[in-house]
Amino acid sequence: MRTQVAIIGAGPSGLLLGQLLHKAGIDAIVLERQTGDYVLTRIRAGVLEQVCIDLLDEAGVSERMHKEGLVHGGFDMLFKGERHRIDMNHLTGGKNVMVYGQTEVTHDLMDARKAAGLTTIYEAGNVTVHDFDSASPKVRYEKDGQTHEIECDFIAGCDGFHGVCRASAPRSAIREYEKIYPFGWLGILSDTPPVHHELIYANSPRGFALCSQRSQTRSRYYLQVPLTDKVEDWSDEAFWQELRLRLDPEARARLVTGPSIEKSIAPLRSFVTEPMRFGRMFLAGDAAHIVPPTGAKGLNLAATDVKYLSSALTEFYQEKSEAGIDAYSERCLRRIWRAERFSWWFTSLMHRFPENGEIGQKFQEAELDYIINSEAGALSVAENYVGLPLDFGE
Ligand code: APR
Ligand code: PHB
Repeated sequence: MRTQVAIIGAGPSGLLLGQLLHKAGIDAIVLERQTGDYVLTRIRAGVLEQVCIDLLDEAGVSERMHKEGLVHGGFDMLFKGERHRIDMNHLTGGKNVMVYGQTEVTHDLMDARKAAGLTTIYEAGNVTVHDFDSASPKVRYEKDGQTHEIECDFIAGCDGFHGVCRASAPRSAIREYEKIYPFGWLGILSDTPPVHHELIYANSPRGFALCSQRSQTRSRYYLQVPLTDKVEDWSDEAFWQELRLRLDPEARARLVTGPSIEKSIAPLRSFVTEPMRFGRMFLAGDAAHIVPPTGAKGLNLAATDVKYLSSALTEFYQEKSEAGIDAYSERCLRRIWRAERFSWWFTSLMHRFPENGEIGQKFQEAELDYIINSEAGALSVAENYVGLPLDFGE
């Protein structure tokens, strides 16, 4: 089998790259170790920056997003029992974010790929990557008891944090930066109306809480919990009770509870791989970097990696230029580190760090008080949350 680009991973990164390459007339095969249904069971953040929205428009997969997505011009920061709105739309001169679940983005991308008759090989076992330091890389995988080989020009490692591509890069050529946070996020999905029309990020002495949503009838909530907690330790009622304790009186009164349709605990980490290119193999999305979800940057960073990679590969095939692929890693990493910094800062501001003592809580409350009373402070939060312009600092 032969293709121009072998894409490993059928998550948002792999599917979006496949769609953009298809639009550019570039042939790509997507290899995914799970089933499509399994991929769609993953519940992840869904706050899309304008850059991501534009990319989904360009990929031709944004119709349902525009119909069902929720446009948000601000969000509330809750501390010391009071909520304060960050008016992103006003502060950034009209920018918003779109709340639209990642599962829906993935669904739309899968539907588009299928409608175009493009090849996605699900349940591809034991994927391995070879000769990416040459002009003739290869990918091998097992399926239906047979080993298959794909010859290609490029390999796109869109296989997430636990994928095979980053793991296959020569150790001497790769640097990994990591920070693991001393807590997790217990998330619950429920078919209940959201407690508020926008998101609420809560800094409470009991720990962080986040009130988010998927639609007018489906809500997503998170609680900071110790890393030692197990999801089976948390009944639905225990979750709702703890959430109430971390909210302000108005939100507490408005909260509509119901049975969880999904409940899980996720660890938080900051992680960056440098570089993101190894010969003819490129890393994109979670394969190259992870952010704590506080700033809702994961999907948006994956989208900009894919934007840069699809442009670079299109330039290679259409203009016979390697300038884009040579610049790929540096272009991505400049944006990645800015988002990593914001996600780390927002996580440090909003979560409880017992090791910082009571004074640590007081410092956080003082910083929050500064932010909501300073146009400069609020703008700093707003412009990072909506997403810095692609040409920021250029
Ligand atoms: N072979 C084939 N497929 C693999 C392999 C492998 N060895 N390892 C992993 N995969 C698949 C996974 O099953 C998954 O479907 O690669 C896909 C990677 O998808 P994601 O982990 O969702 O990563 P990405 O597409 O970059 O999306 C980033 O997901 O984790 C969130 O916050 C993150 O929103 C961001 C988004
Ligand atoms: C979510 O809706 O899952 C969500 C929203 C914002 C975040 C993280 C998660 O910062």
